[in-house]
Amino acid sequence: MELQLFILRSPFYCKMAATSTANFFTTSTASCNSKPCMVSKSKPFGLRFNSPNYLRNFSGLKAATSVSCESESSFLGKESTAAFRDSFAPKAVKQNSDSITRFQPRASSFKVAILGAAGGIGQPLALLIKMSPLVSTLHLYDIANVKGVTADLSHCNTPSQVLGFTGAAELPNSLKGVDVVVIPAGVPRKPGMTRDDLFNINANIVKDLVEAVADTCPDAFIHIISNPVNSTVPIAAEVLKQKGVYDPKKLFGVTTLDVVRANTFVAQRKNLKLIDVDVPVVGGHAGITILPLLSKTKPSVSFTDEEVEELTVRIQNAGTEVVEAKAGAGSATLSMAYAAARFVESSLRALDGDTDVYECSYVQSELTELPFFASRIKLGKKGVEAVIPSDLQGLTEYEAKALEALKPELKASIEKGIAFANKQPVTA
Ligand SMILES: NC(=O)c1ccc[n+]([C@@H]2O[C@H](COP(=O)([O-])OP(=O)(O)OC[C@H]3O[C@@H](n4cnc5c(N)ncnc54)[C@H](O)[C@@H]3O)[C@@H](O)[C@H]2O)c1
Repeated sequence: MELQLFILRSPFYCKMAATSTANFFTTSTASCNSKPCMVSKSKPFGLRFNSPNYLRNFSGLKAATSVSCESESSFLGKESTAAFRDSFAPKAVKQNSDSITRFQPRASSFKVAILGAAGGIGQPLALLIKMSPLVSTLHLYDIANVKGVTADLSHCNTPSQVLGFTGAAELPNSLKGVDVVVIPAGVPRKPGMTRDDLFNINANIVKDLVEAVADTCPDAFIHIISNPVNSTVPIAAEVLKQKGVYDPKKLFGVTTLDVVRANTFVAQRKNLKLIDVDVPVVGGHAGITILPLLSKTKPSVSFTDEEVEELTVRIQNAGTEVVEAKAGAGSATLSMAYAAARFVESSLRALDGDTDVYECSYVQSELTELPFFASRIKLGKKGVEAVIPSDLQGLTEYEAKALEALKPELKASIEKGIAFANKQPVTA
């Protein structure tokens, strides 16, 4: 097999110069003004490839990002759109000439904190982040059981240092100097529960944790995983506003799992190579608010009406599929950890100066009349550099109807989150 699990064989971060390497998660293919331009991204995340083809292909786990620049709008204005367009065109040329040298690793020293690190998502997520060469320090925070997880993980001979923090008194220290905070703390769904059933418990947890983030590392990227994401992200925004440190470009609801699932299910259904498939997923992160835009699938593929219905419903209910299969033992953890690690890696690459990083995420948005909306975004050093509108253009009738249908539910979840946060003033 050409693909070697390098991470299992040796410290992947050492002596990689002689070998072409590929990012564990991502490749972006962008087309601009109808001119296809490959902007494959790759910084190593532990996989080594014998063929440079894998530089473009394997990471179809993120796969192709197709972006039309015709009518970009972003909350940063037209200049950023131009910069966005310019950012990848020259690289398309470069890609052909030195595709291998571009992918050499750069040791960076970012600090990442996971809040809720001892949980079902937190543990595998910590392991995946421990493998990133972009991370120098990994802080694990939880209200319980962190000590053992920290000791266990710290024995892995990857470069980052792992430090554990237990209980509210240690929360501020866990956040000092952190660049990216990931929050999977909270209660997972049990069979029969909706994400909104989790609201009362998880809303309070997210509020308290984001308060601490605001006090200690207000400049960090904040990745919210705790459900219901449709409400917990607006809660986080309100808390940050009340603390006077809200930067909408740095607050993200993690919806990567919806994209990961959409890519997987479409590849299976249409017999496509998984690594090539990219399906944008927009809207929110619960039930019908999850809207996979199958008509925008890359590579271009046609679906019957029945296939669209079947795939859309499966992607929307995939979380429930796992909850029911686990029969009371929690919700998606491994696939979620994988998806969250991919989003962390993308954020770190953006922080590291990579100018071609695209992901779908639930962020403050002006794409629709809703104040928060998941869509493809461009990530940069300062967070969301642009919200990409092109996926929402030229929707099929099915998608356009589904988009209108999801809005009332998403609006209600956003308003519920805002009302919750405003009823409970932050601590000074
Ligand atoms: N965004 C997504 O796509 C997605 C997917 C799956 C699950 N989730 C959500 O992620 C969350 C975590 O799921 P899980 O399966 O890891 O649950 P889990 O119960 O296994 O782990 C949660 C962890 O959070 C910790 N915790 C609880 N309160 C805390 C606090 N105040 N501070 C710090 N840590 C705290 C717990 O001790 C536990 O270790 C749930 O809300 C779940 O619904 C989101």
